[in-house]
Amino acid sequence: MDQFSYRDGQLFAEQVAVADIARDFGTPAYVYSRAAFENHYRAYDEALAGRPHLVCYAVKANSNLAVLNVLARLGAGFDIVSVGELERVLRAGGDPSRIVFSGVGKQPHEMRRALEVGVRCFNVESDAELDRLNAVAGDLGVKAPVSLRVNPDVDAGTHPYISTGLKENKFGIDITDAPRVYARAAAMPHLDVQGVDCHIGSQLTTVEPFLDALDRVLALVDALAEDGITIRHLDMGGGLGVTYDQEQPPSPGDYIRAMLGRIGDRELELVLEPGRSIAANAGIMLTRVEFLKCTEHRNFAIIDGAMNDMIRPALYSAWQAIIPVQPRTDVAEQSWDLVGPVCETGDFLGKDRRLALAPGDLLAVRSAGAYGFVMSSNYNSRNRPPELMVDGDRVYVVRERETLEDQLRHEHCLPDE
Ligand code: LLP
Repeated sequence: MDQFSYRDGQLFAEQVAVADIARDFGTPAYVYSRAAFENHYRAYDEALAGRPHLVCYAVKANSNLAVLNVLARLGAGFDIVSVGELERVLRAGGDPSRIVFSGVGKQPHEMRRALEVGVRCFNVESDAELDRLNAVAGDLGVKAPVSLRVNPDVDAGTHPYISTGLKENKFGIDITDAPRVYARAAAMPHLDVQGVDCHIGSQLTTVEPFLDALDRVLALVDALAEDGITIRHLDMGGGLGVTYDQEQPPSPGDYIRAMLGRIGDRELELVLEPGRSIAANAGIMLTRVEFLKCTEHRNFAIIDGAMNDMIRPALYSAWQAIIPVQPRTDVAEQSWDLVGPVCETGDFLGKDRRLALAPGDLLAVRSAGAYGFVMSSNYNSRNRPPELMVDGDRVYVVRERETLEDQLRHEHCLPDE
């Protein structure tokens, strides 16, 4: 069930009127629903019930401590890509033995910390990274659990910037070269080969690319078994898309059932790394109309939210629904470009949107829970917005609105002569 819906002519987040949130906490602001995060996570966990599995929420999608904590309480695992994400998960009460560590450029200090706390597995992406991990584990006198991230060369059919499973992408080890790299890894004294990993891209709206990748990875697993290398878990990454507009991605259940069908009776634990499909539709970004400016060519609604708060439209030409918090019928609908105060032509959150607007109106940018706040910046010296989490009829500040002091804290002038 959608936790952001209209009741009595106004938008609610769970049991709270969104207009009340704007009154109490100001705009722009991110608003999350605890129940939505929980429901989206459970859809994965329940579809995998009765089978060895680990659902590792991709922290990069939304790394707020409260979000991580809500998921940790459900027993979630986590997919991290930096020591910063690792420390967040630990602070949020996440279990280190349920963490997988992804990313192409892990530093020795990051590997060391991850080994010290005992992460579940390192998803290794190159020969050079294997050497580094073997050395770091050797220094600590431990064996590092390893999966190789293979690049299966399938076209995910998504935006080129978020497509990762093609030969020309920087990610993973070419699947045709993988047997050689597995043999090297298996011979290294401080590595323990456990699994195979792949992630082909994000916002995929059909299962076919996942199944193509899976078939290739399963062929590799079978070939490795013949070479005496036993793979115990299969990590199929994240990537399941969400509905931003008219997309109809498979549900987590359908996607998982399709994959389990191909895995058959192989004794493999299935690991997944969903980010967007858990977080995106668990959040909105609230913004207020400042001015209406109609020119001969276009109608601009100048809003208080901008590309620094939510960069997806500017960066990927992403389309996100923008809806009124209190729909009005006293003015006519028109086509509006929703633009922010940042000094860039690319500073828009939506274009050509049919809306009935007046200055002061509140708008909600939907599907803002993933890759929203985490990609925000202080561009134009704007304070980043607060993050709020609704739980039933209560609203919690889970990150305060930044102040100018926060922004300036780390800057210094040169000394006087
Ligand atoms: N695992 C790995 C190794 C990844 O690289 C990613 C996302 C995920 C899991 C989670 O994928 P998801 O389930 O969220 O699709 N900023 C972009 C998305 C970048 C995704 C990067 N990798 C956007 O706003 O669309």
